[in-house]
Amino acid sequence: MGKEKEIVVSGIRSTGILHLGNYFGAIRNYIRMQEEFNCYFFVADWHSLTTHPDPKALRGNVFRVLAENIASGLDPEKVILYVQSDIPEIAELYLMLNMMAYKGELEKVPTFKDKVRQNPDNVNAGLLTYPVLMSADILIHRGLKVPVGKDQEQHLEMSRNFAQRFNNRYGYLFPEPVPFNFGDDLIRIMSLDGNGKMSKSENQNATIYLNDTDDAIRNKIKKAKTDSGPQAPNSEKPDYIANLFTIMRLVSTPDTVRHFEDAFNNCSIRYGDMKKQLAEDMAAFIRPIREKAEAIEHDAAYLNRIMRMGAEKARESAAATLREARKLMGINFY
Ligand code: TYM
Repeated sequence: MGKEKEIVVSGIRSTGILHLGNYFGAIRNYIRMQEEFNCYFFVADWHSLTTHPDPKALRGNVFRVLAENIASGLDPEKVILYVQSDIPEIAELYLMLNMMAYKGELEKVPTFKDKVRQNPDNVNAGLLTYPVLMSADILIHRGLKVPVGKDQEQHLEMSRNFAQRFNNRYGYLFPEPVPFNFGDDLIRIMSLDGNGKMSKSENQNATIYLNDTDDAIRNKIKKAKTDSGPQAPNSEKPDYIANLFTIMRLVSTPDTVRHFEDAFNNCSIRYGDMKKQLAEDMAAFIRPIREKAEAIEHDAAYLNRIMRMGAEKARESAAATLREARKLMGINFY
């Protein structure tokens, strides 16, 4: 008998076209993990409701995320790929976990504080309990490894707290989930303008989307923030330059990266040349994903089939966990 495969869970919100950060923080790991683990990957459509998306646009966004996952190499036969709102068991576990989540700790979450700052008129309870819903997503399958970017680290810490609290109060049910990235540290891709992390909604000219044309990619990289170059050999890189190297390491050959690293270290680097090379390598990287996603995204029959198949399998696992949770909590009257 083989060892049970570890359970992996991760989701992406349906809030727009995916970008490089989503790809390298999350999807790239999904593709590799599908070979070795028992994977549950989903579109977090409930999470996207905090910002009240247009109901008509939501469907397109959900289809788009599914298509981009598949176009990037995710195999719906190997992983369980589904839409969060197809699994009502998640909402029930969310309710249970809400009883173990305290207002004070939720208010301290940095992503919550950011949202309050950005949108003071829409501080809804869904936003406050966002990390609880996220924990329910993971714990519903008793997930252990969670491939995410660095921005989700704090949320995962809360998931471990909620799991622990439940286990302590009612008896062991949930493993404590940990963030995961192949390689070492969790990834954080910065915006090309050097202002914070790359994100779906902020400066679109400084965000590389998985549906950008070759020319759009060239233009955006050309405008990426640089400076006049290092003044002394082996200087430390400013964060916006380090980000260009991070991105280059992801899409260019090791030889190319070494060439520009050396040029940086001996102060002969010309950022124009580096950007030109990076733009070509990036365009070559994005092109097949863009073309494949375009074809899949409009094949509603195919995507519906995948969603149904995924939902059926995900509900099986979710229902089993929920049965245990109810039993432990004493909600089993028949
Ligand atoms: P979301 O939709 O904002 O992002 C999806 C994934 O992309 C990663 N990511 C990044 N990684 C590196 N650099 C960036 N600039 C960057 N921007 C985004 C995110 O870390 C994430 O892995 N709360 C989640 C969705 C979610 C979820 C879950 C994730 C809901 N339930 C359960 C894991 C497990 C979110 O908003 O991701």
